[in-house]
Amino acid sequence: KVTRYSEQYRPQIHFTPDSMWMNDPNGMFYYEGEYHLFYQYYPDSNVWGPMHWGHAISNDLVHWEHLPIALYPDSLGYIYSGSAVVDWNNTSGFGKDSVPPLVAIFTYNDRVGEMNGEIDYQTQAIAYSNDKGRTWTKYEDNPVLTNPGIKDFRDPKVRWYQPQQKWIMSLAVKDHISFYSSKDLKNWQHESDFQPELGAYGGVWECPDLFPIMDEVSGEEKWVLFVSINPGAPNGGSGTQYFVGSFDGHEFINENKNLLWLDYGKDNYAGVTWSDIPEEDGRTLFVGWMSNWLYANKVPTERWRSAMTVTRELKLKSERGDLILTSIPVTEFGTLRKEVKTKEQLMIVGSEKVFQEIKLPCEFILGFETINHSEFKNVSEYGFSLQNQDGEEFIVSYNTTKQELIINRDNSGVSDFSEDFNGLQYAPYHAKSTLNFRVIVDWASIEIFVNNGERVLTSLVFPKKNYDTISAFSKDGAILINKADLYELKSIWNN
Ligand code: FRU
Repeated sequence: KVTRYSEQYRPQIHFTPDSMWMNDPNGMFYYEGEYHLFYQYYPDSNVWGPMHWGHAISNDLVHWEHLPIALYPDSLGYIYSGSAVVDWNNTSGFGKDSVPPLVAIFTYNDRVGEMNGEIDYQTQAIAYSNDKGRTWTKYEDNPVLTNPGIKDFRDPKVRWYQPQQKWIMSLAVKDHISFYSSKDLKNWQHESDFQPELGAYGGVWECPDLFPIMDEVSGEEKWVLFVSINPGAPNGGSGTQYFVGSFDGHEFINENKNLLWLDYGKDNYAGVTWSDIPEEDGRTLFVGWMSNWLYANKVPTERWRSAMTVTRELKLKSERGDLILTSIPVTEFGTLRKEVKTKEQLMIVGSEKVFQEIKLPCEFILGFETINHSEFKNVSEYGFSLQNQDGEEFIVSYNTTKQELIINRDNSGVSDFSEDFNGLQYAPYHAKSTLNFRVIVDWASIEIFVNNGERVLTSLVFPKKNYDTISAFSKDGAILINKADLYELKSIWNN
C-alpha cells in the first residue's frame, strides 16, 4: 500500500513518518533482502514526547514501506536511541529453530526518575525478534547495563568484533564515549573511554558509531568513530563530528590532526551506519536525521515533523594529512532520475540563468572551472542559487580567498518559526581549479555534495513556492561551467 503524499513541504524523495514526530534513525540493519530503519517516534503529537521506535523497511534504500511501531515505552522508561544487529551465532540464545535472532539494543529513559531529579535514569536494554523484525520481545531481565551514576548515558551502538569473538558497544556518556564488550549481549564489561583533546565539547555527546572502513589507497583497515553533539556544531546547534584511527577490541585511538564534521550543513544529526551489510556488498551506508534541535520542534509542517537524509555511501580519502570521509547518495538513488537535460559549456560573468522552469524534486550537477588567464584570475566568489517566482532564493557560493563554502538561506522561504534558522553556514574547503556540485532538491530540503562528497552540506528550506530556476554567478571575474546536468526525479511515494 503506497500513499501519495502531496502536502506542502512533504518530502518526495526522503523518508518521513506518515504522521507525527520523528527524530534519530535507530537500529538500522540488513537481513534477508530487507533494509530495516527504525526511528525515534512519538505517535501522539507532532512535537517530541514519550519515545517509541517507529519502523520501516526497504529493498533498495530509496522506497520505504511503513511497518507498525516496533517498541513502545513501558514502566522502565521511554525507548531512546540505539542499534540492532543480526546475532548470527545466537550468542544471546534468543534464536529459534536455528534462525539467528535479531537483537535491538536501546536506552531506557526513566522519565519518572528524571523528573524526580535522580541522575541514574538512563540504562541500556535489549529486545529480540524471531520473525524478520515484524515483532519484538523485550528481554525479561532488562536493563542489561545499569547506570553508574551519570546523567547522560545513552545511545548504544553495537557491532560484532570478529577477531575477539565479542560484541562491542559504543556508548555516549556526557562528554566522552565509553566502550563496553559482551559475549552474549546481556553481560557487559567496561573496556575504555575516549575523550580526545581534539574533540568538540560545546554540548552533550550523543549517538556514537564505531565501524571499520577500508582505506582504498593504502589497503589498510581504519576505524571511524562518530560522535554527535548537541549543541556545539560549527554552524550552530546539533551536528556530527568524527575521528579516524585504530581499534584493537579494547581502545579506539584517533590518528587525525583536525576535527572533522560529517556534514557542514545545519540539518544532518544523530546519523549512524547500517549493520550487517553483506560482505559481497561491502559498502558503508549511512542515514541521518535531517533537522537540528535548535528548531526541529517548530518547523512549519503539521501532519508530520522531520525527514531522514537520503541514504549515503561513505568512503575514506586522504586530505591534507588526515583521512576524511566522503559521502555520496547510494547508487540505487539513480533509479529516480528521469531523462537528463544538459547545457553546453557556459562562461559566467555576473549572473546567468542555467536552468528554468524546473520541477521538484530534482537533482543537478554543476561543474565549475577557474579560468587560467590573468584577466580572469581575480574571481573572489562564485556559485549558484535556486530561485522561485516569489523572489525567494537559496544561495551556495565558494569564497576563493577565505577558501570556504557558504550557504545563505536567509531569504529562502519561511523562517520566522525560529530565530536560529537563518544565518550563514560555512564549510572550510581548499578547492583547486575545479569545483563540482551535486545537488538534491526536494520540497523542503537541499543536499549538496561537493567534489564527490569531500564536503556535504544538508539544509532544510521552506519556500512559499517551489524553486524553479537555477542560476550561476561569479564576482570580480569570470568562471567556466563545464558541466550542467539536470534530472527531474520520480517521487518515491508513487511508483
Ligand atoms: C539525539 C537524542 C539521543 C536520544 C534521543 C531521544 O537526538 O537526544 O541522545 O537517545 O535523541 O529522542
